[in-house]
Amino acid sequence: MQKYILALDQGTTSSRAIVFDHEGIPVARSQHEYPQHFPRPGWVEHDALDIWHSQLACAREALRDAGIAASQVAAIGIANQRETTVLWDRATGEPVARAIVWQDRRTADLCDRLRAQGKAPEIQERTGLEVDAYFSATKLQWLLEHVPGARARAERGELAFGTVDSWLVYRLCGRHVTDVSNAARTMLFNIHTLRWDDTLLALFGIPPALLPEVVASSEVVGLAAEEWFGHAVPIAGIAGDQQAATFGQACHRKGLVKNTYGTGCFMLMHAGDAPPRSHNRLLATVGWTVKGRTDYLLEGSVFMAGATVQWLRDGLGIIRQSGDVEALALSVPDSGGVMLVPAFTGLGAPHWDPYARGAIVGMSRGTTAAHIARAAVEAIAYQSAELLAAMQKDTACAVLEIRADGGAARNDLLMQFQADLLGIPVVRPRVLETTALGAAYLAGLAVGYWETAQDIARQWRVERRFEPAMDAGRRGELLARWGRAVEHAKAWEN
Ligand code: G3P
Repeated sequence: MQKYILALDQGTTSSRAIVFDHEGIPVARSQHEYPQHFPRPGWVEHDALDIWHSQLACAREALRDAGIAASQVAAIGIANQRETTVLWDRATGEPVARAIVWQDRRTADLCDRLRAQGKAPEIQERTGLEVDAYFSATKLQWLLEHVPGARARAERGELAFGTVDSWLVYRLCGRHVTDVSNAARTMLFNIHTLRWDDTLLALFGIPPALLPEVVASSEVVGLAAEEWFGHAVPIAGIAGDQQAATFGQACHRKGLVKNTYGTGCFMLMHAGDAPPRSHNRLLATVGWTVKGRTDYLLEGSVFMAGATVQWLRDGLGIIRQSGDVEALALSVPDSGGVMLVPAFTGLGAPHWDPYARGAIVGMSRGTTAAHIARAAVEAIAYQSAELLAAMQKDTACAVLEIRADGGAARNDLLMQFQADLLGIPVVRPRVLETTALGAAYLAGLAVGYWETAQDIARQWRVERRFEPAMDAGRRGELLARWGRAVEHAKAWEN
């Protein structure tokens, strides 16, 4: 009987499930969007039950569409939106509040206070992270302070905290765990010792009884109960979605880089088996623990990429579907001097400015919707170029190419402009769903479905390579202009 791997990819705007075969090729996929809640400017929430129900529904659909029984699933792998903070009741399994999403800025002032107290260097040393509202620690602190009775209940051990991986595993099999790559995004985890950090727990006032047990990214953590799929299936791989994508892109060696063009843009470079130290405001993060070895990554995170295109659709109404953006942007030869800085939820790396807001500059009477669309697409590439520049300053490794994935990597215009701006090739693999694929690989390695990372790396194939075609002078001019545009967006809310 042929076996498959079921990958769950729980993202910020949708839950997805993909069934992969032994060649790493998707045989069926399903995707469900679920509601986003924006109760106040800068706040972003999810109902954790929506996350669970949408994820379960698409997992079942993907199995049905693949025409396979759960008994043919060798293992389940989970990749998830990271940092998003869920707090639930251990006894009932019900969330006690809406989840606070990674994009949520409500704790920016708590972060300001930590910086003012001079805590940032120590936090960076222990966690590899910048002090920012992006990470879970201040979100959890906020929930404990604002949900009635939460702190006392947390101290009595009645509540559980977890990122989305933890929440899904709890619902699937009742165990309260998280993997090292997700733990590394909480700002409570020490990336050197690979344990929850007592100093940070005290600093953020987090009762240890809330925390999940930390497990490897590739190991059997439990069996998804029979009631979900009609057969108990091992859950054998867990990773934050960006680390999973890096694994799925076969960036298993120091210096290899991938960039995912999803809701945001996340550029990650393999940094070897010791935590890197950024001097250019990038993050050091755990990649994965597989077969007893932990790999580390250097990460640049940009908050708005594909979400900017969604804004063109839903906010401005100048396109009907996200896929229409390429045609509209291509209807003009360039952006006509317009630059759009999508700092809608502040700026991530390398600026880390929670008070920045979106800006469109350089408009003239001739500016049309097409120029704005083109500027929006180009903004994704400009932000990524800033990440690569910081990465190249941080490391001695010369980056030879960028492996691209995520929905917006389908956009040829974006890929070509990206290669032009970076001055190095951008490579698009044949399987663009590398996040789910990475989770599948992690799960498959744990149960012997695949034997080694080398077997996996052999499956990675190029679909198209975009070579840089812009001269260095023009590239320099454009990047300088972008730098000026970003200055307009910074500190807007301050
Ligand atoms: O850190 C946030 C990231 O994990 C979200 O990823 O794919 O939901 O945009 P995505």
